[in-house]
Amino acid sequence: MLGCAVSDAIADPIKSAKVFEKAAPPKRGLLAFSACFFPNDCPQEENDMTNAPHPFDALMDITARPEVVFVRGAGSYLWDDNRNRYLDFVQGWAVNPLGHSPVIVADALAAQARRLLTPSPAFYNEQSLKLAKLLVDNSCFDQVFFANSGAEANEGAIKLARKFGAKYKGGAHEIITFEGGFHGRTLATMSASGKKAFEPLFEPKVSGFRKARLNDIESVRKLISSSTVAVMLEPIQGEAGVWPATDAFLKELRALTQQRGLLLIVDEIQTGIGRTGKLFGYEHAEIAPDIMTLGKGIGGGVPLAALLATDHASCFDHGDQGGTFNGNPLMCAAGLAVLDQVSRPEFLKSVVDAGLLLERELQRLSARHGLGEIRGRGLLLALDLKMPIGAAIVAEAFAAGVLINSPQPDTLRFMPALNVTREEISAVVDCLDTVLTKVGAARRVA
Ligand SMILES: Cc1ncc(COP(=O)(O)O)c(C=O)c1O
Repeated sequence: MLGCAVSDAIADPIKSAKVFEKAAPPKRGLLAFSACFFPNDCPQEENDMTNAPHPFDALMDITARPEVVFVRGAGSYLWDDNRNRYLDFVQGWAVNPLGHSPVIVADALAAQARRLLTPSPAFYNEQSLKLAKLLVDNSCFDQVFFANSGAEANEGAIKLARKFGAKYKGGAHEIITFEGGFHGRTLATMSASGKKAFEPLFEPKVSGFRKARLNDIESVRKLISSSTVAVMLEPIQGEAGVWPATDAFLKELRALTQQRGLLLIVDEIQTGIGRTGKLFGYEHAEIAPDIMTLGKGIGGGVPLAALLATDHASCFDHGDQGGTFNGNPLMCAAGLAVLDQVSRPEFLKSVVDAGLLLERELQRLSARHGLGEIRGRGLLLALDLKMPIGAAIVAEAFAAGVLINSPQPDTLRFMPALNVTREEISAVVDCLDTVLTKVGAARRVA
């Protein structure tokens, strides 16, 4: 079974894709690129790795996964329990801004674990107060509610908008979202998403979401009624294949929502925390939304998410929102360590530089193999393959020790650690060059 680093929507075709019949050689790893890519702090725990059989069947089979068990990560690299090393440009689905198991996050977690884990969300704790203040100081928002996953943060944003409608807009509750959008896997966030594969699932849907088309302001305008309370979107649609909302569209949307008294919600679960070269994606368009959600990168690899709102939009009453682990000091300590690094101007500049380098390299690759455009911003980029060969490329790259993602059959998505090096970018592009040649030749023969 293979299917690594491919979105669920295309997992089934992957299982049956021909390339997988011969994939998964016994020895994986970046054999061709070895030595110079080992980080200096090469893990001595590699010796502790076991090769015991694994009880795969004990986990619910919710997606196609390769039968490889990862036991260690450091920066841009992962190791499996056969001591094979992988260069990782998926990074937990854009979760690790500082790479795998960064020392500063591990140290912050260890120190906090010894001091205080969970006093209860009914009491203040120092770490959540500090992190909320840091987020507020670095954004256009005034208040923060912490959550444990992106979907939960989005669920909170939807509730906040409905509360706003109930309090100030005569019960208006509809939220305009977008075709192709992805907001999570709870019932409400699946209903808010515009992902085709979700349409037949888990009926009946949560009502109250109407879908407009990205970068088409008229399609939004047409859906606005007296029932509308908000518009919600990702600044770049990641799962759909890295389709950016243009800065001009975001500006138009802000103007329109302001004019009509609607809330503008940005889902920055994938684009936030430096991923696009600014701390938050909305900054590129020089707009100030009313509500923002964060997840993925904010925890540096641990489950932390956040719902941010301006004073204008922040209208929960006691009892409306909460959760046992929300804002626990352990996760917030990790968030503080991450934000301290990622919010530095020199760090964000390095993301821009690395993004431009990756973009240039992908453009060269595309020209060499007759592929399509490069989309995205910073270190959230996609390569249009112009053919449905994403799964085959992902599988061949995996066999060569490189992890990349194919969110759509004709698209590769790149979301490396934000501190990725030039050498790591070159190694991935070199690997893809070889893989594209091989897959291209195989297609010509077939
Ligand atoms: C834009 C966006 N929103 C929401 C989510 C859901 O986040 P989580 O998987 O943490 O619930 C994701 C996850 O991929 C995402 O990319």
